[in-house]
Amino acid sequence: MLKMVELVLTAEIYNRFNELNEDDIPKDIRKLFYGKNGISRPLVVKAEVARKFGSIEEILKLPFIDMNSFTKQLVITSFDAAVKWFASKAAGAIRINPVLAYFYQNYNSLNVSYEEAKKRNKPRHSDREWLEGIITELEKNPDTAEMLGLVRIYSPEEIKVDFCDVALNDEQIEEVRKIEVAIKEREYLKRIGLTDVGKLLFIGPPGTGKTTTARALSRKLCIPLVEVKLSMVTSQYLGETSKNIEKVFEIAKRLNPCILFIDEFDYVAKTRTSDEHAAVKRAVNTLLKSIDEINLVEDGVVLIAATNHPSLLDPAVWRRFDKIVEFPEPPENVRRRIFRLILSKIDGDYDIEELVAMTSGFTGAEIKLIVREAVLKALLRGEKSIKMQDLLDAVGEIKDRLCLKTSY
Ligand SMILES: Nc1ncnc2c1ncn2[C@@H]1O[C@H](COP(=O)(O)OP(=O)(O)O)[C@@H](O)[C@H]1O
Ligand SMILES: [Mg+2]
Repeated sequence: MLKMVELVLTAEIYNRFNELNEDDIPKDIRKLFYGKNGISRPLVVKAEVARKFGSIEEILKLPFIDMNSFTKQLVITSFDAAVKWFASKAAGAIRINPVLAYFYQNYNSLNVSYEEAKKRNKPRHSDREWLEGIITELEKNPDTAEMLGLVRIYSPEEIKVDFCDVALNDEQIEEVRKIEVAIKEREYLKRIGLTDVGKLLFIGPPGTGKTTTARALSRKLCIPLVEVKLSMVTSQYLGETSKNIEKVFEIAKRLNPCILFIDEFDYVAKTRTSDEHAAVKRAVNTLLKSIDEINLVEDGVVLIAATNHPSLLDPAVWRRFDKIVEFPEPPENVRRRIFRLILSKIDGDYDIEELVAMTSGFTGAEIKLIVREAVLKALLRGEKSIKMQDLLDAVGEIKDRLCLKTSY
């Protein structure tokens, strides 16, 4: 019932104050109002929508709420009474609802802060519906529709990995934190003219957590992730690659704020052969220009590029990033954390220290593989608990695989 009154009151106050925007509406309420063109003003609370939060019959017993029997819209008949009633019942809800906090800031002894409430509310770009709306718009125009085929777009709500699932070292954590504060303080950075932030290059062998970190960052910052593999945008047709690269950056700018994650970043440099030299050169130049022209402070785009082969990169590319973040083969303490993370939900009798000691040179992905193999072996025996021997066997198998990998 309180939630329903909150809904009706939030809509009413939002409609009264034009200076409030969609980011001020609490996420759970906002999600009820997405239409074909996003969220439109004024917010209209239909009974069928409000029903998601409780019983219409109950709320109609309140003296200050009524339903228009023709439009089936819930309306406040006495605003002052509604305001007073809600303040006496739900100060806690007001504190975390920016629309209400804005209105109640100067209200008697309630002592709420709009700024505080805003900090605790997720902005609209964290909503899957918001992203879908923009994508639908882009699909309407053939030019932009073509762009969409080049990338994979994730809403932060769809991303399953969280930072607690990734074992990062201190340097990696610090770089991630810097991006977080830079996004929060964009206005300040703009004011002081500090715009060279938010371009990271992740380097390291496959399976060391580069992609996972980019995804976790999207979830943490509540902004969409635009993922693209450079091999997917390169085309055999002259000039096509350059055009595709421009399109990818264009999408990221349209979706701002977002993370643009460019994987296989070395791909353009790697395909350099004599006959296609001119076209490749042009593609590299386009890439450089696009990197130069995009920035976090003005465009709201965090650029993260990743490569397993940093030595293949053109030095001119290298210089464009404010920070190179290394993803090395995990040292002992990181391997220990990865084992603990992965084994945390798995029953069994095993010695993590021994496993850590024998997996020098293994990546996070390989450690995950060891555990998967051990679990499957145990399941084959009909057991949901693993034995140390299962893990040891798996380590052996992966080691053989590593030897195969290096001998080719
Ligand atoms: N440091 C790490 N902590 C936890 N899991 C890791 C780590 N590094 C790799 N993994 C796991 O290995 C898999 C592959 O990682 P990924 O991020 O795709 O590596 P990369 O992009 O560097 O090739 C993922 O499932 C991830 O969970
Ligand atoms: Mg990857």
